[in-house]
Amino acid sequence: MRFDIISVLPELLESPLGHSIIKRAQTKGLVEIALHHLRDFTTNKHRTIDDYAFGPDAGMVMMVEPIYKAIEKLKSERAYDEIIYTSPDGEPLTQKLSNQLSTKKNILILCGHYKGIDHRVREHLVTREISIGDYVLSGGELAAAVIVDSVVRLVPGVLSDETSALTDSFQDNLLAPPIYTRPAEFNGWKVPEILLSGNFKEIEKWQMDQAIERTQRLRPDLLNNKKG
Ligand code: ADE
Repeated sequence: MRFDIISVLPELLESPLGHSIIKRAQTKGLVEIALHHLRDFTTNKHRTIDDYAFGPDAGMVMMVEPIYKAIEKLKSERAYDEIIYTSPDGEPLTQKLSNQLSTKKNILILCGHYKGIDHRVREHLVTREISIGDYVLSGGELAAAVIVDSVVRLVPGVLSDETSALTDSFQDNLLAPPIYTRPAEFNGWKVPEILLSGNFKEIEKWQMDQAIERTQRLRPDLLNNKKG
């Protein structure tokens, strides 16, 4: 699987995408991530990527031309399954959407700037708009990192224990049950007896009961939302 990410601040993405599981996925050759600087697609000598908004609104707007050039250049090199624009008014990122995206081959992400992008980009160039939550970030780079992270860990072979992504919270619309490690008692705080019993059937039942109880208590909305 390959991600191409277009940004005015690709440096912001280097660290979140350069460590841990995502780094290993790239080293193993399971995932490729290429960062592209939007300024490399400008034609003027100041490498300008924005201009004043038409109309009475103050502020700068990212211009359509450099974005068009960047997307066209990348499209000439490979076919994209999705061209995603990150924006707080996009569709919410959910585990279901991450699962869907993890089955794609090539994904292009354009990091947005809220209130700051020529709307023709959204009308003509992108195939999907994604929000990572109902709040406004300064730019789309952190949102792009969140999308890539949630998708990459679902790519087969990325997690060493194949089943561990399946037991993540949200995978079946339930929050994950509590987990513990040694020692079985610390400071008088005990690990639930059942987990030490060795009875895997009973443990699985306890985990499911816990997952349901935690979801009912903490995120009851998930139980009414059978979106997967
Ligand atoms: N850009 C700014 N805020 C964002 C959000 N909440 N989700 C995705 N992209 C964004």
